[in-house]
Amino acid sequence: MSDALARAKVNLALGVVGRRPDGYHELVSVFARLDLADRLSVEPVADGDRLEVADGPIAYRPADDDLVLRAARLLRQARDPQAPGLTFRLEKHVPLAAGLAGGSADAAAALDLAARAWGIALAEDERLTLAARLGSDVPFLAADVDAALVTGRGEHVAPLPGPLGPVGVLLATVGAGLSTRDVFAAWAATADAVAPASGAAGGPSPGQAADRARELAALLARGSSATDLVLAASRLRDANDLWAASVALRPDLAETRRRLEARLGRPVLLSGSGPTLFALYPSTEAADSAADALRSDPALGLARAVIRVTTFRRTPREAR
Ligand code: C5P
Repeated sequence: MSDALARAKVNLALGVVGRRPDGYHELVSVFARLDLADRLSVEPVADGDRLEVADGPIAYRPADDDLVLRAARLLRQARDPQAPGLTFRLEKHVPLAAGLAGGSADAAAALDLAARAWGIALAEDERLTLAARLGSDVPFLAADVDAALVTGRGEHVAPLPGPLGPVGVLLATVGAGLSTRDVFAAWAATADAVAPASGAAGGPSPGQAADRARELAALLARGSSATDLVLAASRLRDANDLWAASVALRPDLAETRRRLEARLGRPVLLSGSGPTLFALYPSTEAADSAADALRSDPALGLARAVIRVTTFRRTPREAR
């Protein structure tokens, strides 16, 4: 049996710069990998692939076409149609459909575990090609990098160094999951409604989030500290083009962000298509004490938000 940690991500900036003929959207985004991870293990069996869910903090009922099983089937089809069945066991720690790409991280881990179980050596470019077929977030999660400037629909991953030192990341996941597809559809509807007006209703102007993503990529490339990143957060607050679309589907996100910012006294960002909000701290201890303060203050009205603390972490090679 072998196992792996399937680490989640946040988007520190996410620009949507156009729609493609295939229905996907062109992105310019800085992804950063989190320590928060699902656990996945695999065992070869005589026949059939199975996905079992272990007791863990998050309940999960996988479908027959779960990304973990699709990853194994894709690799078998590409490299060894006779490869034996696999039984995967998944322990969920990353909230579902939360903008943290937990399912995509599981798929990336499944690809590596299946390759290991079948003795297949996967070259980096082949891994990334297979990853892209599993989903737009999977190439970043399959790449062994701390952070990256991600473009295209997610398939172009330009590695960046992560911040030096342990950044505390306070996550607040608001209510049930949001479908990425629905959020992009809401974005497209808004874009149609306001085009060609720019910066309508006082929102960020078109292209601003993508510019902020490139600026941040340059900052990380120069070698930034945890403090540099925390200071950059105010420029990143409005650098997620999916914010308005997420709020259209989940209106209480806006009020939750207002309350969090008032209580925490720092900018609160949206990860991916939501509904996870996050704030950055120069240490995990600082994020932990802020989280304790939030949890012990029912008057804040954050009952629908699940608060977690994590950090940015490099995926250890031995876990792959
Ligand atoms: O690639 P993935 O299957 O994870 O994407 C889920 C949905 O999100 C897609 O079906 C598409 O509607 C939307 N999406 C998009 N543009 C992207 C990534 C995702 O429109 N770059």
